[in-house]
Amino acid sequence: MINDHVDHRTVRSALELAVHAPSVHNSQPWRFVLGPRSVHLYADLARWLPATDADGRDLVLSCGILLHHLRIALAAAGIRASVHRIPNPDAPDHLAAVDLLPGPPADADLGLASAILRRRTDRRRYTDWEVPEGFARELAARAAEQGALLRSVSGARERSLVLTAIRDAAAEQEADTAYRTETAVWSGRVADDTGVPAGNLLRDAAGTGAGTARRFAQGLLEQPDSRTDDGAVLLVLGTASDDPLSQLRAGEAASAALLHATELGLATCPLSQPLEVTTTRITIRDAVLGGTLCPQLLLRVGWAPLGPQLKPTPRRPIAQTIERSRDR
Ligand SMILES: Cc1cc2nc3c(=O)[nH]c(=O)nc-3n(C[C@H](O)[C@H](O)[C@H](O)COP(=O)(O)O)c2cc1C
Repeated sequence: MINDHVDHRTVRSALELAVHAPSVHNSQPWRFVLGPRSVHLYADLARWLPATDADGRDLVLSCGILLHHLRIALAAAGIRASVHRIPNPDAPDHLAAVDLLPGPPADADLGLASAILRRRTDRRRYTDWEVPEGFARELAARAAEQGALLRSVSGARERSLVLTAIRDAAAEQEADTAYRTETAVWSGRVADDTGVPAGNLLRDAAGTGAGTARRFAQGLLEQPDSRTDDGAVLLVLGTASDDPLSQLRAGEAASAALLHATELGLATCPLSQPLEVTTTRITIRDAVLGGTLCPQLLLRVGWAPLGPQLKPTPRRPIAQTIERSRDR
């Protein structure tokens, strides 16, 4: 028993659902310490991708997405989570202490929990159907509830600046041998229960969704047709500060927006490449966030093409990520 009402099996099931959270290169950079009344979330620094994510932003964001998935999975199981973020300044890898209390599930949590297993990162070109503005507003409202701003890239000039930034970031990263090696190690046929498998990557990434796709190892996914543009909207998630607490909260906001998009039937793809390079991150900050907020993640959102459903990307066994503690 974790306390009088919450048992370990329920918490373990919630963790099993939560680890379906998306993470950079499916690195799953998290580990958990299960105490008598709490779950502690740690960054797993052995899974950091230094050549891709030099400042660790994608790693903390991934853990923030996991944290929101965990809150939803616990809530759906009737457990209320009281979260202390970055609880110990002397242990920066200790990202959250989640105290567990009994509480009834809310309908909204059940809807989001059921979206966890349906969500996929869809790198294909989407249909040319427009995303209704009301839907984009709903996603922004979900992100705002978690303390981040989610702004649509609007107008031809803004869109062109962002697309150019994505291409410039790709060119800069691909000129770096360490980046190319890291991408090859974490994607394609070599990926099993970590990394991005070939079945979820495009055979021909060039030209996808107006050239937004990161070039991983060659994949097996076919594009639906030969068009180069689609009706996807690009959204930029921003926060007022750029410290690990803001990045963790940005991850929680990304999770809320991604899961709600899934509930609405939309396809989604997180894009971090242009924010991993300082110059293009500044371009996006100035072009989309008025030069003040800090961009944390881009989301491409639209209507999936007709065709086969994407397979889920595997996760490593939960037992590899959990440690027990008697006294925390
Ligand atoms: C912080 C973060 C950054 C990501 N960046 C990219 C990216 O630049 N390009 C991309 O195709 N996918 C990106 N992804 C998606 C991951 O590759 C994906 O979540 C992972 O492979 C697991 O697959 P799933 O989302 O389908 O479960 C990112 C995900 C996160 C959380």
